[in-house]
Amino acid sequence: MSRFAHPAGDRHAEVLPEDRPPHVPADLNTLDPTIWPRTAGRVDGSVTIGGADVRDLVARHGSPLYVVDEEDFRSRCRDYREAFAGGEVHYAGKAFLCREVARWIMQEGLGLDVCSAGELAVALSVGFPPERITMHGNNKSPAELEKAVEVGVGHIVADSFEEIARLGFLADKHGRRPQIMIRVTVGVEAHTHEFIATAHDDQKFGFSLSSGAAAEAARRILALPQLELVGLHSHIGSQITDTAGFEVAARRLATLLVQIKEEHGVVLPELDLGGGYGIPYVEGDVAPDVKEIADGLREIVTKVAQAAGLPVPKLTVEPGRAIAGRAGVTLYEVGTIKDVEGLRTYVSVDGGMSDNIRTALYGAEYTARLASRESTAEPMLSRLVGKHCESGDMVVRDLWLPGDLATGDLIAVAGTGAYCRSLANNYNYLPKPAVAAVRDGESRVIVRRETEDDLLRGQA
Ligand code: LLP
Repeated sequence: MSRFAHPAGDRHAEVLPEDRPPHVPADLNTLDPTIWPRTAGRVDGSVTIGGADVRDLVARHGSPLYVVDEEDFRSRCRDYREAFAGGEVHYAGKAFLCREVARWIMQEGLGLDVCSAGELAVALSVGFPPERITMHGNNKSPAELEKAVEVGVGHIVADSFEEIARLGFLADKHGRRPQIMIRVTVGVEAHTHEFIATAHDDQKFGFSLSSGAAAEAARRILALPQLELVGLHSHIGSQITDTAGFEVAARRLATLLVQIKEEHGVVLPELDLGGGYGIPYVEGDVAPDVKEIADGLREIVTKVAQAAGLPVPKLTVEPGRAIAGRAGVTLYEVGTIKDVEGLRTYVSVDGGMSDNIRTALYGAEYTARLASRESTAEPMLSRLVGKHCESGDMVVRDLWLPGDLATGDLIAVAGTGAYCRSLANNYNYLPKPAVAAVRDGESRVIVRRETEDDLLRGQA
């Protein structure tokens, strides 16, 4: 895209990439089971999730509304635990964390990754066992590190030399010996959006393998007896749909394991390959299933360790999106409907880039359906937009909606369980929507809707 201004004209309307608009779906009422929550369906035309009718959900809890299918969320936790039996699964809280989700994670026996004092506080507030928590972050503050050491989180992933020195000091101060992993930048170009690719050298995370910084980090940690170096960590990016990048990452981490063994005589027992497993957002998206991922990663780690003459390390993974993503659906009420002659119809809803910034930020794609009823009307090429003062405020850039869509209809957007509520903001002073959990026909608010008082709180 050009960064220079140009005279107004047709051009602005012609920036769609070639592969858009998407194919007209044969039926605009279907809910693809690979994209929608596991319990989603239609009863008398209306979409139900967890046995709850979207019309009742909005009547009770308001709109827009984040709906979380508890059964979907929990069953994906179980799928991961089973598939990775013998290893550890840590849910990456950044995808979506609140007190109730922390309880689900705890009850399902997963560990939890946090990357700030705030996320840690949420977990501790419901009694999440600290030893099952890993602390991440490229710039953890001294106070955050101190809290992590003080409460005894299970692992701290060291991301900088300053941090190693601070951890040494804090471990002494609190008479603890924290278990440390080294975040290694393995130099893999993950095939995903640049903003969410994290293992190429030119970005802020971790210690570079190729420059020798990662080996130096190991030297410094091993020189501090109050720190226990237990393993290496790598996270190559997010929304990754093939395992090739993980294989390269594991192989490169193994070379460092060997180097550490040769230099220090220490065999590190753990390997954390991070998260990043993609999910399908639109028809035709293919994402590996959890068994495939687990078998693939286990095979890679076993092969790589054996080739290096090392015992097979314990494998940890950190899925966020793959657990939370499909459980979440956002419900919106249709407001204005504007037909831009010859182009498309702009369907405006009562939220937008404040509750889902992913479309604007990453060009993310979503599937949306008319949810409060079925329709057999002709498909209408549409753009689902929000109510913010920005033309980039799109929820779904290109989609087909039924031509008889009307103000007051409810639209459901699938796959919004990860990185929507957690990236939500108050642009234009919109209050953040409530999050309602649904299960067995019951719904309950697990995060209440913000009010105007919330928006004014703390201001002089
Ligand atoms: N572990 C580490 C160290 C991470 O940095 C992340 C995500 C994960 C695990 C979980 O990744 P997941 O399995 O959810 O892909 N806001 C972006 C995604 C940013 C991901 C940041 N790190 C988005 O909306 O797509």
